[in-house]
Amino acid sequence: MSAADAQARLIELRRELAKHAYLYHSLDAPVISDGEYDALWRELLELERQYPQWRDAQSPSQNVGAAVRQDLATVAHQTPMLSLDNVFSVDEFRAFDLRVRERLGRSGDIHYICEPKLDGLAISLHYRGGRFLMAATRGDGVVGEDVSASLAALASVPAQLQGEELPHELEVRGEVLMPRAAFLRWNEQAQEEGRRVFANPRNAAAGSVRQLDAAIAAERGLEFFAYAIARCSAPLPDSQHAQLELCRRWGFQRAAHIAQGEGAAFCEQHYAALLAARDGLPYEIDGMVVKVDALSEQQVLGMMTRAPRWAVAWKFPAVEVETQLLAVDWQVGRTGALTPVAHLQPVSVGGVTVSRASLHNIDEIRRMDLHVGDQVLLYRAGDVIPKIARSLSQAVPAQRLPITLPESCPVCGAPVLRPVGEVVARCSGGLYCPAQRLEALTHFVSRKAMAIEGLGEKWLALLVEQGKIRHAADIYRLQRDSLLALDRMGDKLADKLLAAIAASKATTLPRFLYALGIRSVGESTARDLAMSFMSLDALMQAREEALLRVPDIGPVTAQWIVSFFSQPHHREIIDELLAVGVHWPQPQAQQTLAGTYVITGTLQSMSREQAREHLLRLGARVAGSVSAKTAALICGESPGSKKTQAERLGVAIWDEDTFLQLLRQSGASL
Ligand code: IVH
Repeated sequence: MSAADAQARLIELRRELAKHAYLYHSLDAPVISDGEYDALWRELLELERQYPQWRDAQSPSQNVGAAVRQDLATVAHQTPMLSLDNVFSVDEFRAFDLRVRERLGRSGDIHYICEPKLDGLAISLHYRGGRFLMAATRGDGVVGEDVSASLAALASVPAQLQGEELPHELEVRGEVLMPRAAFLRWNEQAQEEGRRVFANPRNAAAGSVRQLDAAIAAERGLEFFAYAIARCSAPLPDSQHAQLELCRRWGFQRAAHIAQGEGAAFCEQHYAALLAARDGLPYEIDGMVVKVDALSEQQVLGMMTRAPRWAVAWKFPAVEVETQLLAVDWQVGRTGALTPVAHLQPVSVGGVTVSRASLHNIDEIRRMDLHVGDQVLLYRAGDVIPKIARSLSQAVPAQRLPITLPESCPVCGAPVLRPVGEVVARCSGGLYCPAQRLEALTHFVSRKAMAIEGLGEKWLALLVEQGKIRHAADIYRLQRDSLLALDRMGDKLADKLLAAIAASKATTLPRFLYALGIRSVGESTARDLAMSFMSLDALMQAREEALLRVPDIGPVTAQWIVSFFSQPHHREIIDELLAVGVHWPQPQAQQTLAGTYVITGTLQSMSREQAREHLLRLGARVAGSVSAKTAALICGESPGSKKTQAERLGVAIWDEDTFLQLLRQSGASL
């Protein structure tokens, strides 16, 4: 590489790294894998080493982390929160050990402590008089973000330290992370509900801690692990290991697999053990941190700009492998969400054979320009199931087949809809799609729908499993015997359920509409629909234009409604429900006033403004002057020329009593 090329590459690398650091730290939304990020980073360090004349204080290599978010309060760290230098091989680690020994002037082994490198978010916790005071993120290392409320809500952050003779001032640093199980649970749910999924547990932790709603971090299962005491008003033992033990006694948790021992050989052995234990841990680790154990020696070694000389992060090899994308199929979740699943040429990723990978949604496929037949890069992202990082697109173009969203549900054949602006595509066969059966039935019987008390998801699941219920109408055909055949179902309970089922037949139109589970038709939309169309038949025939005239119904909801009623299966189920006796009274029309009204003169019981509001509330229009089209002139005392005009045009003239009578009849609250 020529010097000019090297300089150009250096600039490009700095820009790229700054961009990816921003995506990673500030937006919690990385677009490249950790392995790729590390590779860019190492290339930068290597070029800066070769060309010291182009070193720059603004280079990412001289700065820690990312800028702070603007909307959280900031906290200046009393001692900077540093980063760690990385090593990636035994040789690089041995070079670190050698440097340490040289600096300390030692020929013998160094006493090291090896800790898992937790893949979360660095946090500093402040305590005064043993009580929790404040928590901050690392931010740019000098100034962090105040995340006190989120951290205070975590069970693993003690509100009060345990033990006697607590230090007056204490700052403990550590990592907050989202355990694997919580991460998987969150992403599964987010995907179903069309919310954003996190790329990995680290981003999930960062995104959850930096929320203005403090309860979120705890709800999402975040945990804090202590790894250092940054400040303490009382004297501390001269050993990192002993300090971690102190943290434990105060009530903090530490990571598992922490070990202390002599020399590089000990660390190398522990590295292998940790790598083997990695997959079995309940949280993600991405390497091992080796620290000189004695704090007195740490002090002698001191710091560089962004990292200490007494510690190093020995990263685990990135688990990335190449394979071929053979096919993509679409799975349908409980709520009808369609998720693409990649079928891959089986390949070993970190010791596990992988042949499938989840792809989130069609947007992700388009972003990666993924085609069937592509060579792809697989990586592990804190997930049990690996992810596709990107397409290597080296396959012969003719063999690349585009991946498209199916038009009909692969399970039931109903149309797949993806309204404009929504990420998730869904099957629209809610009531009859087998993939959504249990969800649809549970909704159907729920309290605000058909309100069948006692028939919860547990019973429904059993009845569905045994083939006793396929669709909602089957609930009304249940026999006493079928119920009694269920495990733990007694006579009394069976009778109670049958009575509740029978009672639910008498319902209301809004409840029935809500029970159908039409996507985006909640309770209040169901009520609006019932009031606007007055009958199920009228609603079933309504076109989109008519639906859009109903308050609060937008194009997306209108589309779901039309699609729902246009499917013959849905109509069949509705017919069956009516045939088994589900019924409701005709909704009571709220009387409305059509036409344009004009008010003149002084009214005794209200102001003209109040009269106007009553009229508007009843759906009438109010105008300032009388014309042939005016429905009536409401005439108080001392009317003006409007009365003459009304008389001339033959417009009805109402006195105040007539007006009040009309308001009462129309149900206005006077
Ligand atoms: S000690 C001065 N110990 O790794 C060094 N850091 O890449 C302070 N990390 O910012 C860090 N596990 O967020 C330390 N056992 C551990 C760690 C750990 C994870 C994180 C930490 C740090 C980052 C540097």
